[in-house]
Amino acid sequence: MIERRSFLAALPAAAGIGAAAQAERPLREVAAQRGMWFGAAASWPLLRDDEVYARHFAAECNMLVPENVLKMQVVHPEPERYVFIPWDFLASFCQKHGMKMRGHTLVWHQQMAPWFQRVATRENARRLLEEHIRTVAGHYRGKIESWDVVNEAIDVKDGVAGGYRKTPWFELLGSEYIDFAFRAAREADPEAGLVYNDYGLDYADEGSAAKQEAVLRLLRGMRERKVPLDGFGTQAHLNVASREKFRPEALRKFLGEVAALGLKIYVTELDVIDQALPDDVEARDHGVAEFYEAYLSAALDVKAVTAVLTWGLTDRYTWLARRNARPSGAPIRPLPLDREYQRKPAWRAIARAMEGRGA
Ligand code: XIL
Repeated sequence: MIERRSFLAALPAAAGIGAAAQAERPLREVAAQRGMWFGAAASWPLLRDDEVYARHFAAECNMLVPENVLKMQVVHPEPERYVFIPWDFLASFCQKHGMKMRGHTLVWHQQMAPWFQRVATRENARRLLEEHIRTVAGHYRGKIESWDVVNEAIDVKDGVAGGYRKTPWFELLGSEYIDFAFRAAREADPEAGLVYNDYGLDYADEGSAAKQEAVLRLLRGMRERKVPLDGFGTQAHLNVASREKFRPEALRKFLGEVAALGLKIYVTELDVIDQALPDDVEARDHGVAEFYEAYLSAALDVKAVTAVLTWGLTDRYTWLARRNARPSGAPIRPLPLDREYQRKPAWRAIARAMEGRGA
């Protein structure tokens, strides 16, 4: 059962952190000293119900992003109904623990509300988009560090000019839905940084190169059209199976081009799939950590990178558990803390990469 001790009294002894680790500063402190944020995606209601999870979250992170509760399906389940209770909990958690909050995500082709298909037409789609954004981004107006306004709008494989993904919004409104969304977000919350977020940009291969090019074209176009855009998020869901396709110089070049547009950069959803590594825990943790460090030390060379967020904090709760299960059934280990909240080599890799950045 969950321990009932107070937050501070419980740290770090009750967390089971060993003597050596006690001397290590939490990632939020390491990040703050570098003028950065370290955070993770928080899963609700686990953060409410699992006190140990909550305690470690507050100890390590100075930024939080809701993993699911701001997606349309959850926050806007019926045309006239919005559900803010989970978000309200997470927002007060952030406030209590001195953490910044990111918003994820206003426009995405997945986890859309079931009513959307029934209700949306070419005629009303723009109004639906703007109303959704006005209501959701308006809810914590002035309190959100940044919003992933549009998520995953590029997929060159769809064969559309410009590399746009054929999302329901694209089908109804064309590529302009992206500009509409950012403009509505600016109006709803003028203080929040407005971010375009995407994945599949991490490697020095044809797939990543084509997608990088399309993303850069999108971002440049938005700048030229004076669309309110402040940042770019790269999800960075990494896979050890693709480790040899990673080249630090290729990542630095891409992120450097994004930075040259005057945008802030966020590493928004970092985790490392370990299926390609042997079951042996030590070897596995080493392989995962090595990729964390290679990726982050390259990314953090680009000064525009201001935040690193992992997609989950502990191997106990990770979206990859079912998606990328190991053939042996051994639990996967993609995140900085293990299932018992011990700091793993990946945790140290993140700390070293941030420390290596210089003050
Ligand atoms: C994932 C969540 O982690 C899962 O719990 C959910 O079932 C599906 O979505 N890219 C994103 C995130 O931008 O929103 C996704 O989150 C992971 C991939």
